[in-house]
Amino acid sequence: MTGREVVILRIGHRPERDQRVTTHVGLTARALGAQGMYLAAADKGVVESIADVASRWGGSFFCEDNVKWRSCIRDWKAHGGVVVHLTMYGLNLPDVIGDVRLHDKILVIVGAEKVPGDIYGLADYNVAVTGQPHSEISSLALFLDHLSNGTELNNKFPGAQIRIIPSKAGKQTEEL
Ligand SMILES: C[S@@+](CC[C@H](N)C(=O)[O-])C[C@H]1O[C@@H](n2cnc3c(N)ncnc32)[C@H](O)[C@@H]1O
Repeated sequence: MTGREVVILRIGHRPERDQRVTTHVGLTARALGAQGMYLAAADKGVVESIADVASRWGGSFFCEDNVKWRSCIRDWKAHGGVVVHLTMYGLNLPDVIGDVRLHDKILVIVGAEKVPGDIYGLADYNVAVTGQPHSEISSLALFLDHLSNGTELNNKFPGAQIRIIPSKAGKQTEEL
């Protein structure tokens, strides 16, 4: 693990249709080394699903819903953090990741549908993971992997109740 603090801000979540994708945004963030996710909507279902996984699989990932995105960004910056907005309209990932890596407190914004136009101006970096449309899950995964140069693939999750024993074939787990 690096000492870098990385938290996701998920905006545009529609509880009636985005629960699964938003939960996967959180699980991806957790698995790939982020510390938590702020959700700019009310959805206890997402919060509980992520908390369930975190309590069983370890680590200390948090998920907080009902967050106001504007004040979240303002507070993050006031505490010395930078803001990365993942958008296909931004600068391509390989061209900016070196600069982003210089920071040790990073808020990563991902949208669901069209994000409010203000976000582009509030972000310190608008980052594209290719200039092609795909998804918040894939863009977040690639961003986090590039941020940590792949080292996050060996992260440990202390306090887990279960762990997978990597196997060439079949499924092996260990209850701890
Ligand atoms: C399904 S996309 C919605 C895009 C929407 N049509 C728009 O105009 O912004 C949801 C989110 O995925 C992320 N995303 C999709 N493609 C991306 C890309 N090529 N690079 C970076 N982020 C991307 C962005 O965070 C975006 O807000």
